[in-house]
Amino acid sequence: MARKSMHGEWSSRWAFVLAATGSAVGLGNIWKFPYITGENGGGAFVLVYLACIVVIGIPVMMAEIMLGRRGRQSPINTMYDLAVESGHNPNWKWLGWLGVLAGFLILSFYSVVAGWSLAYIFRSATGVFTGATADGVESLFLDRFLAHPETLLFWHTLFMAMTIIIVARGVKSGLESAVKFLMPTLFLLLLVMVGYAMSQGEAFMQGLEFMFRPDFSALTWGGVLTAMGQAFFTLSLGMGAIMVYGSYLSHTASISRTTFTIAAADTGVALLAGIAIFPIIFANNMEPSAGPGLIFISLPLAFGHMPGGVLFGSLFFVLLSFAAWTSSISLLEPVVTWLVETFNLRRITATLYAGIVTWLLGVASVFSFNEWAFEFEFAGVVKENGIFDILDILTTNIMLPLGGLFIAIFAAWFMSREASRDELGLGDGMRYNLWRFLVKFVTPAAILLVFLNMLGII
Ligand code: PFF
Repeated sequence: MARKSMHGEWSSRWAFVLAATGSAVGLGNIWKFPYITGENGGGAFVLVYLACIVVIGIPVMMAEIMLGRRGRQSPINTMYDLAVESGHNPNWKWLGWLGVLAGFLILSFYSVVAGWSLAYIFRSATGVFTGATADGVESLFLDRFLAHPETLLFWHTLFMAMTIIIVARGVKSGLESAVKFLMPTLFLLLLVMVGYAMSQGEAFMQGLEFMFRPDFSALTWGGVLTAMGQAFFTLSLGMGAIMVYGSYLSHTASISRTTFTIAAADTGVALLAGIAIFPIIFANNMEPSAGPGLIFISLPLAFGHMPGGVLFGSLFFVLLSFAAWTSSISLLEPVVTWLVETFNLRRITATLYAGIVTWLLGVASVFSFNEWAFEFEFAGVVKENGIFDILDILTTNIMLPLGGLFIAIFAAWFMSREASRDELGLGDGMRYNLWRFLVKFVTPAAILLVFLNMLGII
């Protein structure tokens, strides 16, 4: 079977690797990973997260790319066609729906945080952080920024507009070359930040210890669920983003090699971000469990005290905004491909509709940090930002793992062995059998185990 994509193909395997890495590396790595690691006690959480990347993330990513390439449409129509073709229930299309809905919900709050990053480019460039104290940067963030919904709304709107423009033009033009230069630069800059963290003496070791010495008494089942959710979120899995990108992938590219490259780059960036941030937190007696503001408080403090801080600071937030941009493009893409296929809309029209509705929902997250803020407890962690936190927990910890569970089940139990073997190109030996064993038993069992534990059933 060789279906052709109505949306075109990547120019090479590398174009796909770059775009998928662009999707994977984003706020999830640099903003979210450090703050949830801080909230969940450090080392043990990191260990569970890494285990989830290996036994759940990598096999599911291979499955998701494979389904995308075989179906070559939006997640909804791909799941429908693949199910019907192999003689199964067309209701598998609901898996596509779950993904498209998750993407839309995630983008609504993702764009708000990406807006913070845009705002911080300008704040860094004007030198307001130079020489600032820990209390100073905190107040700049909480009182002079988050407390003002109109400011957050402005940056959220700007970021959504940037995303709409790129998606409307078709994701492939421009994405490739941009990712090629900016991703390595982001990596280098993170190394500079790690260098600065090393200069913090004692605190550097304290940071490393916090991240890498597992203390399992600090980890709850809620923390395990959060670590698993983060593995999905950071690799862009479980909602069809990678499935759509896979649908533009040529038949000759190796899915397994591609997956390893993406997962390695993504994990590397997250760990570097943590290594750069925690020493700064400890050196300044700040709280690792400060929540979503963590990097917007700790990094400006570092930029304010390092040589060349104005330049490095602005550059850092430029790159972070860019990483967020390439991720948000992949969040909007599944909705848009579906609208184009189903209603025959022009790409521009479809993107505008989807973008505006997402923007509107994003307003709820804007107000979550000020007027509508309320607290609640989730799995032992106090969350302070009402709707924003609810949307995050609902998508990251529930919808994405659920999507991943069904993707694994479909790929291993419903697709024929021949079909997945041909598509993955791993031959019929040990490597293929290992993948099949993981998606067939290990991934579903692990996800179910965490879910059931959370629900208090086991
Ligand atoms: N992986 C992105 C990040 O870590 O920032 C976020 C994301 C993008 C999640 C695309 C899900 C997705 F489909």
